[in-house]
Amino acid sequence: MYHCECLNSILVLVSPMILQDFLSNRGKHIEDTVNLSAGTLAWGLRATKKAKEMDGFINATIGSATEDDGKLMVLPTLVKELSNLTGDQIFSYANMRGVNEFVVAWKKDTIDTYPDYLREGANTFSTLPITACGGLTGGLMISAQVLFDKGDVIIAPNSRWGNIDNVFFKNLQLKESTYELLDKEGNLNFDNLISKIHKAEKEEKKIGIYLNFPNNPSGISPSYDEVKKFQEVVEEISIPTTIFLDDAYEGCVYEDSVIEHSLFPHLIGLNENVLTVKVDGVSKRYYAYGARLGLVTLGFGEEVSEEDMVKARELIAKATRTNTSSSPKGIQVAMSNVLNDPEKNRQVHKEKKRNISILEARYNYLKKLLGEKESSILQPVSFNSGFFGYFLIKGKQPASEISHKLLEKGLGTVPFENTKNGLNGVRVAFCSISESNIEKAVNILYSV
Ligand SMILES: Cc1ncc(COP(=O)(O)O)c(C=O)c1O
Repeated sequence: MYHCECLNSILVLVSPMILQDFLSNRGKHIEDTVNLSAGTLAWGLRATKKAKEMDGFINATIGSATEDDGKLMVLPTLVKELSNLTGDQIFSYANMRGVNEFVVAWKKDTIDTYPDYLREGANTFSTLPITACGGLTGGLMISAQVLFDKGDVIIAPNSRWGNIDNVFFKNLQLKESTYELLDKEGNLNFDNLISKIHKAEKEEKKIGIYLNFPNNPSGISPSYDEVKKFQEVVEEISIPTTIFLDDAYEGCVYEDSVIEHSLFPHLIGLNENVLTVKVDGVSKRYYAYGARLGLVTLGFGEEVSEEDMVKARELIAKATRTNTSSSPKGIQVAMSNVLNDPEKNRQVHKEKKRNISILEARYNYLKKLLGEKESSILQPVSFNSGFFGYFLIKGKQPASEISHKLLEKGLGTVPFENTKNGLNGVRVAFCSISESNIEKAVNILYSV
């Protein structure tokens, strides 16, 4: 016997009794705790359904950037390169560590985003990236699996992407220590993170810290001053600590005072107790969400011999081999061709700039309108980057209730509520609202 829920003609099976006698503990755990019809996915489905019924419905649930006409934003140079690949280039196996020309070019592409004074250190203290199948999710899963055991403590923000709960806390069963990323006014504040690190240093043998900037859902990134403050804490950490940097939205920043590249070069080469794991990928950085290619780069706190660098990289590659095996080849070859050809490289970066400038225009207009209005219920946080705006709920009303009301009024949003640690707010994906719809979206938002 099973219960079924039909959402937008997708059949979601809950509790398949037919499998009960066959399931492993892990299978039972996933069955009990992970719900594909909850969270972002479910709100996306509700919004898609509503959009079919309601003229002029605005779907701000989608975490992929879209053009003003609703088509997915892509990079034409990459599309062209992919469509010109041969069967051999697409269908042969890729090296377990990644196509060499691609990973070398990816490292350079990343380092080029850092200020000059950080580039040499970024190169010296880090491995070549290793490809991870399944996008950033695969990279986070594999690196966490290699570094942590069930019950080990990971310090993670209350404002976080829902799949982090699935990967770290439900799947790997790591122990959560939560920090509040935002203060009551909706500003980023590292104080709570810092006190959680100090507490864990006294109680644990080793810890992990998960950082994600630009942050999903809050759209917040730190200023250079805040990064410096965190850096000073990192310098003093006294137990083995792994910092996971989830750099899904790196480079998508709209304010000058905010760090516009990864925190990676700021955290490596500081302290031998600190290992930094940079997880990034083509998903958002190259508008290639479905290409399913993530990368893991290890950054050390001290100088490491070439031999140890290679061994560390091999370890991640071996873990990947036992898990998802090698990553898709075609996207690696296409990316390599684009990054290694000066003219294509110039062109693709021009296209990236064009996409960011569209997102920036939406961001600026949204910010302008929010500056002119007040809501008795919604308090916008100081979002400054990424794909989302986030609004804390001023009273006690659950964010899901507000999202339901907004849905009925013509705006699809995603509530991010965490009753355990007090997070309660609504996420608005301006990455998928055309500029001409922003004012209407704000009017609906501030009408609840
Ligand atoms: C913060 C964050 N990390 C990782 C991901 C997932 O990346 P991928 O699709 O490459 O697994 C997302 C996707 O929404 C995200 O918001």
